[in-house]
Amino acid sequence: MEQLSESLVNHERASRVQKAVHGVGLNSPHKLLKRIREDERLSQTRPRKRRATCPADTEAHSDMPKLTEGDLVIETNSLSPAEFQSRFLPIHSPLLVFVPEPKERPTAKTPADSLSMKLETSAQLSKMELDACFNLVEETSSEAYKNSTVRWRPKAKRREMQDVDMRYILVRRLSQPLDNNNSDQAPHDILGFLSFMITMDDDYMYPVLYVYEVHLSEGLRGCGLGSHLMNVAEKIGQGVGVTKIMLTVFTSNTAAEKFYRRLGYSKDDISPEPRVLRNKTVRPPDYMIMSKSLKDGDDA
Ligand SMILES: CC(C)(COP(=O)(O)OP(=O)(O)OC[C@H]1O[C@@H](n2cnc3c(N)ncnc32)[C@H](O)[C@@H]1OP(=O)(O)O)[C@@H](O)C(=O)NCCC(=O)NCCS
Repeated sequence: MEQLSESLVNHERASRVQKAVHGVGLNSPHKLLKRIREDERLSQTRPRKRRATCPADTEAHSDMPKLTEGDLVIETNSLSPAEFQSRFLPIHSPLLVFVPEPKERPTAKTPADSLSMKLETSAQLSKMELDACFNLVEETSSEAYKNSTVRWRPKAKRREMQDVDMRYILVRRLSQPLDNNNSDQAPHDILGFLSFMITMDDDYMYPVLYVYEVHLSEGLRGCGLGSHLMNVAEKIGQGVGVTKIMLTVFTSNTAAEKFYRRLGYSKDDISPEPRVLRNKTVRPPDYMIMSKSLKDGDDA
């Protein structure tokens, strides 16, 4: 009976994910998988499992079901923001400061002073911070969305940006530290951000860190900050225990693709292939899914 319901859940999951991959747009499968996970949690089709905290604990409860990879995602996303930060990106980590090298400053607009990074959940973002991040996405990428089959859908983008499991690394000048009590803080002090989620991969096979956005204001590009943010995301992913980092890039954004390839990312196996239409025209996909292994010793 248990096996039957498990296989029904898997079947339902597979067919819903399949529909999402073929029917909806960028990143939608992740939302859907999240909803399926929520459904499963609510319907309690599968019993909740507990994490063994030490070997003795494992021995004492050897009859307990093992921690599954889906549990890693659920448990990581249930951590409080403070606990997530202290485990994976402690507040005094040198990774939270970035100093652009003078030789790397390509334009007069690039700040000479150090930049500070702050980790926040979507729920912690003030409206002004969310607006500032949204404006950066709109400024750098809305044209690419408009020219794709995904289309630019500002409301859907805002909804995605506010997903409960979405986390942000916000970049500011060090001289303008974030004041959490000041909701009137000027939004333009956010010079860039990276957003990510700990989630299951598109085939619901294993947990990954998915980078949703990485956007820098113009004067900050080309001085190593983008590489630094990706490195921070990779370190968080390794800390959490996921073995892969993934992202989606428009095929029209060749600069970003070069940037990711330079950092060791390559096209993932699940990235869509060109479609051959009935009239034999080949339609290349609008976007590519790229990934990089986070396993120890894997360079790719
Ligand atoms: C893409 C982006 C995040 C890269 O960050 P960045 O700080 O400019 O990149 P870095 O300075 O760390 O560059 C690292 C490497 O990537 C490559 N690269 C970066 N920008 C590039 C560009 N425009 N064209 C070609 N290669 C580029 C370079 O080879 C560079 O290596 P190098 O130091 O040996 O020259 C940033 O340019 C940006 O915000 N762009 C607009 C928004 C965007 O397109 N985001 C991606 C959405 S998927």
